[in-house]
Amino acid sequence: MSTVIRGGTIVTASDIVRADVLIEDGIVTSIAANLPAAGHDVVDATGCYLFPGGIDPHTHLDMPFGGTVTADDFRTGTIAAAFGGTTTVIDFALHAKGQSLHDAVRIWHGKAEGKAAVDYSFHVMIGDLREDVMREIPDVVEREGVSSFKVFMAYKGTFQVDDETLFRTLRMAADVGALVQVHAENGDVIDVLVREALAKGQIEPRYHALTRPPEAEGEATARAIRLAEIAKAPLYVVHVTCAQAADAISDARKRGLPIYGETCPQYLVCDIGDYDRPGFEGAKYVMSPPLREKWHQDVLWGKLANLELQAFGSDQCSFNFKGQKELGLHNFSLIPNGAPTIEDRMAILYHFGVNEGRIGLNKFVALTSTNVAKLFGLFPRKGTIAVGSDADIVIWDPEVERTITAETHHMNVDYNPFEGMRVKGKPRKVFLRGHLIVDGDSFLGEPGMGSFLRAGRFTPVHL
Ligand code: URP
Ligand code: ZN
Ligand code: ZN
Repeated sequence: MSTVIRGGTIVTASDIVRADVLIEDGIVTSIAANLPAAGHDVVDATGCYLFPGGIDPHTHLDMPFGGTVTADDFRTGTIAAAFGGTTTVIDFALHAKGQSLHDAVRIWHGKAEGKAAVDYSFHVMIGDLREDVMREIPDVVEREGVSSFKVFMAYKGTFQVDDETLFRTLRMAADVGALVQVHAENGDVIDVLVREALAKGQIEPRYHALTRPPEAEGEATARAIRLAEIAKAPLYVVHVTCAQAADAISDARKRGLPIYGETCPQYLVCDIGDYDRPGFEGAKYVMSPPLREKWHQDVLWGKLANLELQAFGSDQCSFNFKGQKELGLHNFSLIPNGAPTIEDRMAILYHFGVNEGRIGLNKFVALTSTNVAKLFGLFPRKGTIAVGSDADIVIWDPEVERTITAETHHMNVDYNPFEGMRVKGKPRKVFLRGHLIVDGDSFLGEPGMGSFLRAGRFTPVHL
């Protein structure tokens, strides 16, 4: 099977070039002007960009959380991802109390196999960081092809670890080429504020944000960075929402430390005012860390533009408004945390970033694909359009305008946090290893055609 994509403009993290692309057996085998078409399927991409397939570094599919299970599984979540231009997801295998890390990875393979419609890799989200679990890390990196581990500084009483545990995990990870990811919020402070709010009868969704202030995120981020510095370990801070945290990352990087940060679309275009939507609607935006005051968005955009934040994840964690978010109708702390964002991740960054002049095309590709592949051991197989790389290619039509709405999205959830936003730029066709899986509004792929990608060990990268 071979295909020539003609007439498009290829965008990578470093180049923008008008050229054709030849795909043979799922791999890019030639990039040149005016490639001969004879013997190949020909796809016309005139007027479009060719982006490397998006890589979403932060998804939660089919995950039990907050007393319920996410509404999207590997089938619906990855089909929605594909419609948005994402051809690889890195999902968090949840490590539950009493389990080994190997158990968590095995269970997650069971959830993804036969269902994933795009390629996938795993992080482990450590839920029970026991001594024996810490000692398992080297073997998980070696045998499972999983080299990134999320550790929580919040969610007191369930996932939260103390500084000793975080520090020792950082040291262990650094020794074996693994990357620790932190959920950086000060869980002790938040726990006090939540209890005080509930005692005063403050039960509405807005108190979710007021009890998780940005200072709690900034403090935890700075502390995690200091612990990583002492441990001589790299660190990746997930879902950065505010100036306090983003500045701590910038300061560390100025000191030459291998610290990396990720932000997500919801923190760029939604804000604390969304919690005051009428009725219980604010629950749709309950996620942790929470949405911030609007001025933080400018700071985050500035950090993305300078690549002081290096990765752009969705933090897809979908719960239906009806029946799931409603679990917290009388107590904001019982609202399952998370939002459905996997499908619109690229469109939001493209429209509000590229179209509105905040970031350039190369940065868009770096943030949504290339840097993620480099950080999580998938480059150069994934994350670029180059000879020898997998032919994961998005033909992106920059002229198509649409309104984001739950009525037409492909996620298995009854609302969209970006409902009503007008965006310009949309995938026209999406290829996964040379297979056309999205053609306009049609899904041509198959659940189960996604392959598991073993992640290489972390090597410090200058991003
Ligand atoms: O609210 C969120 N972000 N839910 C998903 C779990 C996490 O902390 O990433
Ligand atoms: Zn988190
Ligand atoms: Zn998350």
